[in-house]
Amino acid sequence: MSRKIFVTHQLPGERIHQLAELCDLNLWMGPGLLPPDALREELQDCQGLLCLLTDRINSDVLAQAPHLEFISSMSVGVDHIDLAAASERGIAVGNTPGVLVDTTADTAFALLLAAARRVSEADRFVRQGNWRQENAWAPDFFTGKDVSGATLGIVGLGAIGCAVARRARGFGMEVLGWSRSSREVEGVKGVSLDELLLRSDFVSVHTALTPETHHMIDAARIATMKPGAVLVNAARGGIVDEVALAAALVRGDLYAAGIDVFEREPIADDNPLLHLPNVVLTPHIGSATSHTRARMADLAVDNIIAALQGEAMPNCVNPGVY
Ligand code: GLV
Ligand code: GLV
Repeated sequence: MSRKIFVTHQLPGERIHQLAELCDLNLWMGPGLLPPDALREELQDCQGLLCLLTDRINSDVLAQAPHLEFISSMSVGVDHIDLAAASERGIAVGNTPGVLVDTTADTAFALLLAAARRVSEADRFVRQGNWRQENAWAPDFFTGKDVSGATLGIVGLGAIGCAVARRARGFGMEVLGWSRSSREVEGVKGVSLDELLLRSDFVSVHTALTPETHHMIDAARIATMKPGAVLVNAARGGIVDEVALAAALVRGDLYAAGIDVFEREPIADDNPLLHLPNVVLTPHIGSATSHTRARMADLAVDNIIAALQGEAMPNCVNPGVY
């Protein structure tokens, strides 16, 4: 009997077409994102799930999916999946690391540059018709903060953090780094998290969101950051306490921030970062190039194909289940 796989969104890439020949494939056609109720219903008789980071696969959802054997998420982050509950049920969980490293590092660096040089603010100024004779140019007109020669602190030295470090060195920055595993990386001076926050003009966050990293950058840690520093987050919103960050930006303790990820996505109307002029905001587009998204989709499908063939997924985050 052909096994049932549910895919929660239409996907780019080539491999999805091959998947259709290997299983009983059911694809959510939208419009929009899959509603949680529809997910529960679809999962009742499925062996496999291919999901996105917008699908919350918590223990309740898993409890109502008695036949589920494997989940492949088209993302590197898997904080939307209750890994402990999945592992307990023997459900293998796959992700898509590697292929999005440079694309995501580019996004983090774009946010860093945009926040330092006030790109979004300046763009709004021009568009809103403010660039006029009486407001034309002055020595202090839209002055920002230098990136070249500044110190960047990278929190989390995984593949993406290391790719950001390479970019920073190309911009003539001094690069400090901290990771829980005290990883040594060429061209990155390993320091404690305290020292990193104290010394860095720019701090960029690149850890996974786990119970240990939730609100790792909280009010107390933000208070130890160098006055006038810039915070960049293209990892996961929950790592940074947004309310504390907004307060530090309002007080002028921090100069600016570049933020791609939020504690609640899509962003809530009352998110305190939403109305601050010195925050560059993007809607979780870290890996968003068409090339990279197609490669992520292909990797996600490869995980499903391997699982259907009774093999270990090539990218599995809980290999203990095998
Ligand atoms: C994107 O945020 C991802 O985890 O792939
Ligand atoms: C991404 O693949 C990472 O490990 O940072």
